[in-house]
Amino acid sequence: MDARTKLTGIIGYPVEHSFSPAMHNAAFVACGLNWVYLAFAVRKELLADALAGVRGLGLVGINVTVPHKEEVLPLLDELDPLAARIGAVNTVVNEGGRLKGYNTDAYGFLTSLREEGFDPAGKKAVILGAGGAARAVAFGLAGAGLGALVIANRSPERARELAAALKKNIPALQVEWARLRPEEVAPALREADLLVQTTSVGMYPKIDVSPLEDYSCLRPGLWVYDLVYNPRQTKFLKAARAAGCRTLDGLGMLVHQGAAAFRLWTGLQPPLEVMRQAVVERLGA
Ligand code: ATR
Repeated sequence: MDARTKLTGIIGYPVEHSFSPAMHNAAFVACGLNWVYLAFAVRKELLADALAGVRGLGLVGINVTVPHKEEVLPLLDELDPLAARIGAVNTVVNEGGRLKGYNTDAYGFLTSLREEGFDPAGKKAVILGAGGAARAVAFGLAGAGLGALVIANRSPERARELAAALKKNIPALQVEWARLRPEEVAPALREADLLVQTTSVGMYPKIDVSPLEDYSCLRPGLWVYDLVYNPRQTKFLKAARAAGCRTLDGLGMLVHQGAAAFRLWTGLQPPLEVMRQAVVERLGA
């Protein structure tokens, strides 16, 4: 590091457990960039000050994570249309003092899904959860030509709200909502090709819980994607694998959303394998 070092990072609260610094710093080293990525624990009431700091100190850009992905929107100068539709930003680019917000979560999810061989066009999906991650997944799938979607959430009003936002933006998509209960999820799953688990249930350190404790609705041939990456094999994903489902963990989305942010900031091709390996090593540690 010297007087020319460029700074990027992530703001969230809490943020100490983020894997992004390891992933991005490994990428900067691999590409020979004199850049550094730090984690900033920013409380809600200081979010505007943090964004002013990005401008004032001339950071190249910043990632935004829970709980700021939605609150950051009005603090930005410009929004990418997809981020505006999703209503959440996870990547900010500092364009000469103007802050532009992007959402690379939708891209990261879709890219990892396609990498494994699943094309959403014309398919039917069920999403568990209706928070920020669910919004990115839903708009990503809808934009990729998904045919039908059911959103199941613990709080029904949030599921209803997301379903309405999707219908308004993408009239061709058939959307329904349900409560996160086996008797409501099971009928939707009978017809589904893909089930995406977007809630934080099962995430480290509370790994012994699952968003659906009744697994009888899981069947061979169903694709099950759990966005959680720590641990990679959640209780839910283990049950899905035991039921014969085709399972995907959250590592692919984490890497591809990071790779998209790297490309936006640097204009370079991201070193995907280096980034993936850095996360795998951190997970091992
Ligand atoms: P993120 O950006 O990670 O999606 P979020 O916007 O806070 O975070 O959303 C968290 C999601 O996990 C929501 O769908 C939430 O359900 P509610 O809308 O009912 O709060 C879901 N979630 C969190 N804890 C849960 C739990 N114990 N059981 C079921 N769902 C849970």
